[in-house]
Amino acid sequence: MISKATIDKVFEQSLVEEVVGDFVQLKKSGSNFKGLSPFSNEKTPSFVVSPVKQIWKDFSSGKGGNAVAFLMEHEHFTYPEAIKYLARKYNIEIEETQISQIDKQKSSEKESLFVVSDYAKDFFKETLFNSEDGKSIGLSYFIERGFTDQTIKSYDLGYLPESPNFFSTMAIKNGYEEIFLEKSGLTIFKNEKPIDRFRGRVIFPIHSMSGRVLGFGARILNNQIKTAKYLNSPESLIYNKSKILYGIYFAKQEIAKLDNCYIVEGYTDVIQLHQKGIKNVVSSSGTALTIDQITLIRRLTSNITMLFDGDKAGINATLRGIDLILSAGLNVKICSFPNGEDPDSFSQDKSFEEINSYLNNNSIDFIQYKATLLAKNSNNDPVLKTKTINEIINSISIIPDRIKQELYVKHCSSIMDISEEVLFNSLAQKTKNEIYSVSKKRISRVPKTTKNKDVDLLFELEKKIIEILLLYGDKTEQFEELILKNDEDGNVILEPTIVKSIVFEKIFLDLQQDEIEFTNESFKLIYNKIINEFQKNQKLILEVFLNNLDNELSEHVTGILMNEERYELHNWVSKNIFVKNKEKGISQLVSETILSLRTYLINKKVDELKDEIKLENNNDRILEEINEYHKLKSLLSKKLNRVF
Ligand code: CTP
Ligand code: MN
Repeated sequence: MISKATIDKVFEQSLVEEVVGDFVQLKKSGSNFKGLSPFSNEKTPSFVVSPVKQIWKDFSSGKGGNAVAFLMEHEHFTYPEAIKYLARKYNIEIEETQISQIDKQKSSEKESLFVVSDYAKDFFKETLFNSEDGKSIGLSYFIERGFTDQTIKSYDLGYLPESPNFFSTMAIKNGYEEIFLEKSGLTIFKNEKPIDRFRGRVIFPIHSMSGRVLGFGARILNNQIKTAKYLNSPESLIYNKSKILYGIYFAKQEIAKLDNCYIVEGYTDVIQLHQKGIKNVVSSSGTALTIDQITLIRRLTSNITMLFDGDKAGINATLRGIDLILSAGLNVKICSFPNGEDPDSFSQDKSFEEINSYLNNNSIDFIQYKATLLAKNSNNDPVLKTKTINEIINSISIIPDRIKQELYVKHCSSIMDISEEVLFNSLAQKTKNEIYSVSKKRISRVPKTTKNKDVDLLFELEKKIIEILLLYGDKTEQFEELILKNDEDGNVILEPTIVKSIVFEKIFLDLQQDEIEFTNESFKLIYNKIINEFQKNQKLILEVFLNNLDNELSEHVTGILMNEERYELHNWVSKNIFVKNKEKGISQLVSETILSLRTYLINKKVDELKDEIKLENNNDRILEEINEYHKLKSLLSKKLNRVF
């Protein structure tokens, strides 16, 4: 693990405008910088970097955060990768903590494997372009397959001649240890004599998400030879084929941008499509798709289109892939190719536009795919049709999102011409999950229009509270409290009294008193973290706070903090009632927001109770409760009226 001290140093020294500036052209605009969003194809800049707050916000995609969040978003780094990147950029030495002896050894072995793989990649590339055999055999093979010089270079393609150990002898001579040559699989030792694993083949280096070479695939040049067409690196500490997607390094930006990932079977399919301009494409390299590979894609998009062969093996792989992708909660489409073609051969003589429109026109969702596949020759045979429907419902039952399930049931019903009711029943049997029917009932009970409006108001109120805490949480303000007192005649009255409190305490106590919990999960987490921080330190250092949030939360917080910039940016005069509150006193703002939230929640409670009355016979208890709430409500509105 990277030490806390190193992480602190990295945060201290990195400047968000410099980090972002390496990827986005920024122009000064007032106290901020502005640029074109790197996450969309916009024409007018809506990407803002605030050097004062040390955060960035992309108003076209809603993303935002600090320097680390930018690297994670843009370069798709993990958190440690982003810290390491920044440490390198700012010349900060990385101090590792809590490393056991075994971990240390592992990490140095990993590093050695990376180093030797990188050397090999350069060696194979050099051999392809600069040796006689390389040029006449390797390079001409690639050119014959239609790859351009630029493609060959950018994919780091290489070649090794037929001789037994051309590479290994050079590597050993250059000081690379035999143990790592062997562990990486580059060299096979037979009776202590080194042999090049990839001799006599053209070579495809396999890059990690961040561009390091993890291993190799290598193809024979002559299809006649009776040996495996492709040879791959054996599993090692750095090469784990079920966790790797060929081409991901070259595709990641485009996958995120286009919000879709094509999966193909082969190395050459990736390269050919990329060269033609379809860049959001990766390959599972002939192995069945794994959940780890889907997880890699998930960092970039939730939409996958599988471009697999129409042969039997291809179909089976596709069917397995579909269910795996669905179970991970992602969306899947399938695009088939004419008989005997793979994406590479299909694309050879076509332009970008032709390929792109073929992909768009022939990508179908999994229901249609299964429907056409299984019912192809059924002629409406009821047995086959039943089987098909069951297959489809099977896949739908795997989807974790209930709403999506429901949409797919509707779709299936129209395609297969069978009632939704029957499909829902069969789905319910499959999921054997009561939550399903319960949640369905609950959803249908709430009229949608009012629900959305409610959610919006509640969302705004909760957000407002977070905003107040972030901006003014540590301020001491005077609040007017209505205190219950007895007057001279012994009647209970409400007497306004001025009380001094710190804003965060006031909010915390007021909400706690009513046992109010945030409904929005992110806000709830942020709220708890803020209160914690205040209670511990009596203050909130924004930068430190932001840096301790995970990506999603820090995005939320950044969004809230950057609101001012948004108005500046769009020159909006917002009709949103909450905006004008900014000019009012802090204490008024706090009271008003809390009281609005309480009133809202009480109204909701009363509505719920009214609903209950309709359902239950014994109404007395409920009526009493409603009465109590009404009293509370009138008290609150008195308070609110004083505030406004
Ligand atoms: N593959 C493999 N080992 C093999 C055969 C195939 O690892 N012996 C993997 C390779 O990643 C290959 C993919 O499976 O790219 C798809 O195999 P296939 O369709 O047979 O090859 P193509 O990619 O079409 O290769 P080419 O066009 O070069 O013949
Ligand atoms: Mn092929």
